[in-house]
Amino acid sequence: MELFGAEVIASPSEFTDAGRKVLSIDPSSPGSLGIAISEAVEQAAQSEDTNYSLGSVLNHVLLHQTIIGEEAKLQFAKTDDYPDIVIGCVGGGSNFAGLSFSFLRDVLNGSRNNTEVIAVEPSSCPTLTKGEFVYDFGDEAGLTPLLKMYSLGSKFIPPAIHAGGLRYHGASPIVSELCSKGFIKAEAYNQQEVFEAARIFSRTEGILPAPESSHAIKSAIQNALLCRESGTAKTILFNLSGHGFLDLSAYESFLQGNLQEQEISLHKVV
Ligand SMILES: Cc1ncc(COP(=O)(O)O)c(C=O)c1O
Repeated sequence: MELFGAEVIASPSEFTDAGRKVLSIDPSSPGSLGIAISEAVEQAAQSEDTNYSLGSVLNHVLLHQTIIGEEAKLQFAKTDDYPDIVIGCVGGGSNFAGLSFSFLRDVLNGSRNNTEVIAVEPSSCPTLTKGEFVYDFGDEAGLTPLLKMYSLGSKFIPPAIHAGGLRYHGASPIVSELCSKGFIKAEAYNQQEVFEAARIFSRTEGILPAPESSHAIKSAIQNALLCRESGTAKTILFNLSGHGFLDLSAYESFLQGNLQEQEISLHKVV
């Protein structure tokens, strides 16, 4: 980002341009996406010519990401196939929804009834699997409108796992609604098992996946193993949302046996 001319301020930041302490958050904290959003909104609010645009969570972001699912569908049409299981990792929900909504549309309009859709998250930030379906803020300081979504609470600070893009306390309202109605199943895995899956994938496919995407890979492997056990053949589609070349230090920790799992304590959201 700096190569392209941006000034990058790591969150939680200690001071704004105005020299004032930001949001009273301890800068040694591992932070959260909710805190980073608050800081970005605060920055934008101070300046006439700056606006803030969210890159995930909100419904319109999910909608334009469906180009992923639309393209995947065309690829399936060429092979005369259709997925039985569609899997994506969920931070705010954009890559997951982008892939799965095109297929869920077929399920909802009745043209398909046996396609299963699975959202995967880290067990240290288990929004869909352990959160509450409530109105909550999208950011730590409560600057955003309230969103009806699964949430661990906007003040929740997840452990500092390497899949930083999945450290979000909430989830997209549409994904949350579909999850609450049973159209989407949610699964959670811990860091160690996710990196094991990434290792298997790297060795078999020659592609180094992002730690976030490796959550989807873990579920794909898990579901393929279930198929093997039950002797059923299923077509499994998952989204490889990013490469892992920016995460080599995470892989180094994994290979050196230094990945840590931290207990989390969850509190009532409202
Ligand atoms: C590679 C990668 N995958 C997935 C995500 C999760 O975001 P979303 O749930 O909006 O797709 C991120 C977020 O930073 C990411 O970097």
